[in-house]
Amino acid sequence: MNFEELDKRNHQVFRKYESIYSFLESEFRKFYELPLVGSPTMKKQLKIYRQLKFMAPVIWYHALFEQSEYGGFITNDDMMMYAKNWYLERKREYIINGEKMILTSYQYDEILKQTLAKLLHRLNYDIDLIVDLGGGWGHRLFDLFLFGVKSKEYVLLERSIAGRRCSNLVYSLFDNLLRFSCHHFDWNNLEDMPVFEGRQNVILFSVYSIEQIPKFSHKTFDILIDKFPHVKVLYSIHLEPITFQIPTEKRNNPLRYKRDVQYAIDHKYNMDFYDKLSRTKKVFIRHVNSGVFDSCDGNSISILTWELR
Ligand SMILES: C[S@@+](CC[C@H](N)C(=O)[O-])C[C@H]1O[C@@H](n2cnc3c(N)ncnc32)[C@H](O)[C@@H]1O
Repeated sequence: MNFEELDKRNHQVFRKYESIYSFLESEFRKFYELPLVGSPTMKKQLKIYRQLKFMAPVIWYHALFEQSEYGGFITNDDMMMYAKNWYLERKREYIINGEKMILTSYQYDEILKQTLAKLLHRLNYDIDLIVDLGGGWGHRLFDLFLFGVKSKEYVLLERSIAGRRCSNLVYSLFDNLLRFSCHHFDWNNLEDMPVFEGRQNVILFSVYSIEQIPKFSHKTFDILIDKFPHVKVLYSIHLEPITFQIPTEKRNNPLRYKRDVQYAIDHKYNMDFYDKLSRTKKVFIRHVNSGVFDSCDGNSISILTWELR
């Protein structure tokens, strides 16, 4: 893609996510009338969070394809029932760690989230800051907290203004149970993101975020690292559709390679994450596990972990 095409793509992606998260926010507000009035118990608030999480992919789908056909529910139960059927109708085969399974997309994403939580549990050290890079409305961070991944702070970095608004709205359900904040973040312009002074033990992660950036700059990861000037230990974990970029993949898995490359081309997805990361001197790629999550239509997800040298 030349400069003009990249710019056009960037605007398209921006508009797409503003529209998705605006719809999500309005539906979250409408249905649950957030912020809650009165003094509901924490248990009730967390139940509402779980319901929002269940509904979000359904609302997301309608924001993309059938916005006008969504709504008109009379009770919460109506809406939950609609979502349940929506998931069941779309049950399908996935391959996770080489094992075939019939799952709903909700189950699939829960397994993905638990995998991320397990990786973080294994690190088992005193985390100052955990950061979701391009984290949308924040559900992955909130879930990590609920899965018991402990950090002094949870930070959402996201380009979409509506996405950040939505995450703050949902955070109001957590009532200071965790220290959360969200900030502007654009992979194409990292100079603008905040600097996190004083944090020594930092975890970065991303899930389905990198693919949105067709091409990274040579300096992307150097600039990102410099935003944590006092860091002593920095780990970064990515669950991203970058399987075809891993050097051994073409030889080891030619069919999946072909399918994933085609998917990335068709969707104007990222092509150079692995290359740019591996050329960054400060970065040591510790572990790569290719194609762990595969929905069998291209776009298989690999797990890549790097740390600061
Ligand atoms: C497929 S969504 C995934 C969101 C979230 N990571 C999740 O798993 O639910 C892709 C996300 O990348 C964000 N994004 C797109 N372009 C971006 C950019 N240039 N910089 C930062 N985030 C971006 C979108 O706003 C959106 O939240």
